[in-house]
Amino acid sequence: MKRDFLTLWDLSSDEIEAVLKRAIALKAGKDASKCPLIGKSIGLLFEKASTRTKVSFEVGIHQLGGQPVYMTSQEIQLGRGETVADTAKTLSRYLSAVIIRTFEQEKIEEFAFHSSVPVINALTDLHHPCQGLSDLMTILEKKGRLKGIKLAYIGDGNNVANSLIEASSRMQINLTIACPEGLEPNPDVLERARENAKSEIIILRETKEAAGMADVIYTDVWVSMGQEEMTEGKKRKLAKYQLNNALLSCAKEDAVVMHCLPAKRGQEITDEVMDSPRSIVFDQAENRLHSQKALLEFLLVSRP
Ligand code: CP
Ligand code: NVA
Repeated sequence: MKRDFLTLWDLSSDEIEAVLKRAIALKAGKDASKCPLIGKSIGLLFEKASTRTKVSFEVGIHQLGGQPVYMTSQEIQLGRGETVADTAKTLSRYLSAVIIRTFEQEKIEEFAFHSSVPVINALTDLHHPCQGLSDLMTILEKKGRLKGIKLAYIGDGNNVANSLIEASSRMQINLTIACPEGLEPNPDVLERARENAKSEIIILRETKEAAGMADVIYTDVWVSMGQEEMTEGKKRKLAKYQLNNALLSCAKEDAVVMHCLPAKRGQEITDEVMDSPRSIVFDQAENRLHSQKALLEFLLVSRP
C-alpha cells in the first residue's frame, strides 16, 4: 500500500528515527553513487513560492537518479478548474510520487485520497512536516539526542509551530511555545500531540519563561504566505515576540538558534542573532536536502 507524508503522524517514532539515521548517513556521503530513483519521475506541484523546498527536492531527486517535474497550478489545468481528483488520478499515471505545496490541508488530503502514488506535504497553511523532519535531523546532529531536549518556539503559532508540536510529541522533546493570545497553534494538533506525548508541550505568553534553560530556540515569520492581509494587526500582537540577544541570553549557554527561513530580519529575529555563531539556520536549510532524500527512499524504495 502506498504511504503518504501529509503530517508527521504519518511516520511512527521508529520510522522517523530510521529516516533520520539514513539522512545522516546520506549527508556523510554513503551510497552517493546509487541511483535508487532511476527511471522514476517525481512531481512538484506548488501553489506558493519556495526557495528551500523547491530546490532541495529537485536536487535531491536528481541525486537519487530520478527526474523532478516542477509545475505551478497556473501552468496546469488545475488552475483553470480541473478538479483536484481528476488531476490526482491523471498525474498518478505518469509520476511515482507528488510533492505538493498548497493552502488548505484538506486539498492535499483530497489529492492524496485520489492519488495512487505517495503524496508528500511540502507545506500547507496547517503543516510543514518536511521542515519538521529536517529540524529533528538538525537538533540530533547538533545536540546528539532528541529525547529530553528543551525546545522553545517564540512567535506565531503557525504551520511550522504545528509541525514542531507533532515532531516533539513523536520524539519526546519538551516543547514550550510562547505566543500571543489568539495566535496559538491549532487546537486539534495540540490535543492529539498531548494525548500521544511522553514529553511536555506547553503554551504560554512570556517569551523569557519559554526561553529559560532552552537547548534550542526557534522562531518563524510573523506573517505566513497567504496571510498578507493580516499583516498590521499580527505585527502589533507579535511585537514583543522577537528573538533578540536579550531573549537568547535566557537560554542555556550552548543553546542553538533555529529558523525555517525565509526570515524577516528585524521582525521575528534580529540580524545579530541570525548571524551569531549560535545560529544553525543554514545547516537546518541544508538538512532539508538530506532528510527529504531519506524520506523519498523510505516512501519509494525501501518499501515494496
Ligand atoms: N523553509 C522553507 O520551506 O522554505 P521555502 O519556503 O523557501 O521552501
Ligand atoms: N510559516 C511560513 C513558513 C515558510 C517556510 C509560511 O507558511 O509562509
